[in-house]
Amino acid sequence: MAIISEKCPDIKITLVDLNEKRIAAWNSHDFKLPVYEPNLKSLIKKNRNKTLFFTTDLKNSIAEADIVFISVNTPTKEKGLGAGYASDLRWVESSARSIAKYAKDHTIVVEKSTVPVRTAELIKKILTSSYLNGNNDKPKKTFSVLSSPEFLAEGTAIKDLENPDRVLIGGEDKDAIEKLSLIYKRWIPESKIFVTNLWSSELSKLTANAFLAQRISSINAISALCEKTGADVREVSKAIGADNRIGEKFLNSSPGFGGSCFQKDLLNIIYLSRYYGLDEVADYWEQVISLNEWQKRRISKLVIETFFGTVSSRKISILGFAFKSNTNDIRYSPAISVARDLLENGANLYIHDPQVNENEIALKLDQKDQKSDTEGSWSFTRDLKAAFVDADAIIIMTEWEDYLNINWHELTPLMRKPSWLFDTRGIIEEFIISQVNLNFWKIGKGFKKEL
Ligand code: UDX
Repeated sequence: MAIISEKCPDIKITLVDLNEKRIAAWNSHDFKLPVYEPNLKSLIKKNRNKTLFFTTDLKNSIAEADIVFISVNTPTKEKGLGAGYASDLRWVESSARSIAKYAKDHTIVVEKSTVPVRTAELIKKILTSSYLNGNNDKPKKTFSVLSSPEFLAEGTAIKDLENPDRVLIGGEDKDAIEKLSLIYKRWIPESKIFVTNLWSSELSKLTANAFLAQRISSINAISALCEKTGADVREVSKAIGADNRIGEKFLNSSPGFGGSCFQKDLLNIIYLSRYYGLDEVADYWEQVISLNEWQKRRISKLVIETFFGTVSSRKISILGFAFKSNTNDIRYSPAISVARDLLENGANLYIHDPQVNENEIALKLDQKDQKSDTEGSWSFTRDLKAAFVDADAIIIMTEWEDYLNINWHELTPLMRKPSWLFDTRGIIEEFIISQVNLNFWKIGKGFKKEL
């Protein structure tokens, strides 16, 4: 919406959230926004309270809108039918009910949240029943439902939105499609705006994420094979990525993919496939998740085995807790499972991240009911130097630029000897570490030198 307000200054945009604290943060005088995203703050500063408004006033915002985007979260269901796989659509449903209640005249409803296929049908049903129920006269309000899934990635959101590979608009109502594409056409070439049927649009979003996640699991599988055979996964990635049928993107091996989308959307595809009796299809996609779980596990196992099976009372510093760089989001971050495994084995963790909020980490690591007496401890620091003091090991979990610029000559001597560096993102060059007194393990390469 920040981008639409920037590109279309004649359109009034209102962002509604029921969470008062969050809206207060979006409206805060010092621009302490709830989301860290490069270049977002300047856009909000420029357009807030001019064409871009933040409010909790659901009723009036819907009543005055010509187009409503449903952009609520659709997490994996924790309970009930399809638990652990299906998406929880309660927020989509309650949004549709609010729109049905407060809308006036004709309203275009755009499904922006990533949803299982045929959710638009549910939205349509809620909307249509609202004006048919109890009113036999001509309906006072009408609706058109479109699907226009979002493909932006966190950390590069502004760039992705300014220059998307494509925009999808799924639906049947030609007028509504035209109105929505007129907005996008202000800055996106027409050739990049694809009009499809509703179900193709919804399924394309799930499929895109499943394919991207699959590439990561594929290269992560190869990373383990590289470590055994003496190959270097970065060389393999470069070699295969140069084949333009494969392409160079999304071939970085990592401690596993995280973020709010990949796992959720894969689980959705698995659930849908099983629902339609396509067990082989479900099993196929399930492997992408299994491999990801294995990748996270093998990293914590490797660290523990390096210390001969016990990390109890060791100081181990985790550099980076975000699921990727340039975001403060830790949802499904591989750092969570690595940290939990190490804590379970009694380690004293020091966690550093340039953007993540300590309270968010506490929500993931302080699950009291699961704590045992032998559990280790953790603390958080924004001071990189403090993370090195007396540390037995450093584990790089996120590819933040700060870690590319670490002065190893200055910081390594602060560690306890023998000291270890585990680079799970493969961002540190061997020749730099070879100049300091540090044992080094790099993903997709293995151990470099042992002292
Ligand atoms: C993803 C999709 O890219 C985006 O199109 C969709 O709209 C939402 O889901 P996001 O989760 O924000 O975006 O980030 P993305 O850049 O895709 O990274 C996801 C995870 O994959 C991260 O944990 C990242 O570190 C990991 N990753 C990515 C790799 O391990 N290797 C890679 O080569 C690329």
